[in-house]
Amino acid sequence: MSVFKRLYHFIWQRKWPFILGSIPMVISMILNNLAPFFVKWLTIAVQDGLMDHAFRLVLIFGLILFISNLLENIGYYITDKNMVGASNDISKEVLTHIHNLDFAYHTNKSSGKLISLMKRGDDAFFAYYDIINRKFLNLAISFAVMFFAFARLRLEYLLFVFLLIAITVLVAYFLIKINIKRRQEFNDADDNVSSARVDNLVNFDTVKYFANEKFEQSRFSKLLAIWNQRLQAYFFTFRYFDGIVGNLINFALVGIMFLAVRDLRNQQIVLADFLLVTTFSMTLLPKMMQLLFSLRELAKKNTDISTYLDLLDEKITVPDPIQPRKILDLKGEISFNKVDFAYENKQLVLKDFSLQIESGEAIALVGFSGAGKTTVAKLIMRMYDPTSGQILIDGIAINKLLKDELRKIVGVVPQDPLLFNNTVYFNIAYANQKASKEEVLAAAKAAQVDTFIKDLPNGYKTIVGERGIKLSGGQRQRLAIARMLLEKPKIIIMDEATSSLDSASEQIIQQAFWDLVRDQRDPRTSIIIAHRLSTIMQADRIVVMNEGQIAEIGTHEELIQKDGGIYQQLWSLQRNGFIGDGESDL
Ligand SMILES: Nc1ncnc2c1ncn2[C@@H]1O[C@H](COP(=O)(O)OP(=O)(O)OP(=O)(O)O)[C@@H](O)[C@H]1O
Ligand SMILES: [Mg+2]
Repeated sequence: MSVFKRLYHFIWQRKWPFILGSIPMVISMILNNLAPFFVKWLTIAVQDGLMDHAFRLVLIFGLILFISNLLENIGYYITDKNMVGASNDISKEVLTHIHNLDFAYHTNKSSGKLISLMKRGDDAFFAYYDIINRKFLNLAISFAVMFFAFARLRLEYLLFVFLLIAITVLVAYFLIKINIKRRQEFNDADDNVSSARVDNLVNFDTVKYFANEKFEQSRFSKLLAIWNQRLQAYFFTFRYFDGIVGNLINFALVGIMFLAVRDLRNQQIVLADFLLVTTFSMTLLPKMMQLLFSLRELAKKNTDISTYLDLLDEKITVPDPIQPRKILDLKGEISFNKVDFAYENKQLVLKDFSLQIESGEAIALVGFSGAGKTTVAKLIMRMYDPTSGQILIDGIAINKLLKDELRKIVGVVPQDPLLFNNTVYFNIAYANQKASKEEVLAAAKAAQVDTFIKDLPNGYKTIVGERGIKLSGGQRQRLAIARMLLEKPKIIIMDEATSSLDSASEQIIQQAFWDLVRDQRDPRTSIIIAHRLSTIMQADRIVVMNEGQIAEIGTHEELIQKDGGIYQQLWSLQRNGFIGDGESDL
């Protein structure tokens, strides 16, 4: 769909303010262009010595100007409502679509680029609206009035002006195309600069750890040099545009005046008509330049706005089912049926992965870094769909459930939890907006959040910083666990959820976790991913993963008996303290 059509779709959603505002504007534009006629009529009146009539004409002209101004302002006032409302609608729709996009999109996106693109798109919409619905309309009406006057006077004037305008617009069209291309090239460079800025802001600590400020500055300078060069090239297109197009318009103005003087000399027109033609030409033809400036502006905005609206075309790769199914009596059984999975780089991360997890069972996933443990968690949440094979919950394929429902059933405490730049309380209550204050505080207590909250100046009202940077890794983990305890999902996935905690806090939190999981009235199915084997010994079964496949499976006792097995190796490494004191990470 063209940008134009798309925008009008949004504008038309609020059609009444648009129509009601446009009517007074159009009338005002017509009235505004009557000045040359008054020049003509006044000249005739003065030439005929009808001075009273001339005064009347001046008064009428004044009244018309007043009415025109009033109508214009009323029109602007009403259409502004339409413009701002439509802009809000677009912003909301774009953000909603971005929310609906999948993990794959979000891992590939650059927030910096996206922000500058959205900002440019937003600004462009206002300019686009103003240019088309006001400037263009105004000029179109002005020219229509002029053409009407010329056509009545002498067809030759109309043809001459029309021909020159056509040539100018044609030349302008080609020049604008070059202008847009340069603009697009500049936008790319601008996006890269913006992306580098955000990357630097987000990773400021990494830059400092490595004392790489100089390196970053030189990287940034290189991008800025390209930015600079592209901007200059873009500006240059304005120079030849103004040179060529400006002089074509000058030629049209001089040409029409030449014709009018010639006809006056030959007495083919009278002085009053001569003045009509010159007033029209001198006021309107320079406006032609404005029209072309607006056209160029429009072209520029067109690029910005079409990239913005293209966001709405981003495909959702993990779509909701058309006919979703519901789980009526949730048990929490999970089964993986011959699941293969590859990220975009196409290398299989999970190979022929099959696993049946019973309702209420606690499964531990262990294995070397990169074995695919977190990937298993992401697939259960449907962050991605398997390349082949199926994942089912209570016998229903998860791609037959609405993503929202699925994600309410499954709760994950991620490996590296990120928080909103808001209060501690907000971040915990985020898991369940309906929870009472008591419930939030109880979850916080169970996850040992209250032990460090006491030391914070504003307690639960402390702001945690962007992504939670003002908290320690272990504190962030405790907040993430509190969220999960508050949400109490039927299926719980703990991905290295306590890896940054000291042993004492870990034990207390583990207790809270097992209390929830082993709750006799409503047991939960759980998957615990951990490198520290001491934390998973209580699991019903331990699944050892190796290179995307299940290498071993069994209880802790069974697996440590298995000579030459991976688990036995890992266990003895941790027990014998080869790495740390038997509790450290592998
Ligand atoms: N978004 C991604 N795009 C491409 N490849 C990815 C992505 N996420 C993970 N991988 C790759 O998939 C493989 C499995 O990663 P995964 O995060 O599942 O490992 P893991 O077993 O959880 O490791 P760890 O113990 O270090 O957390 C790794 O080789 C990793 O590089
Ligand atoms: Mg992981």
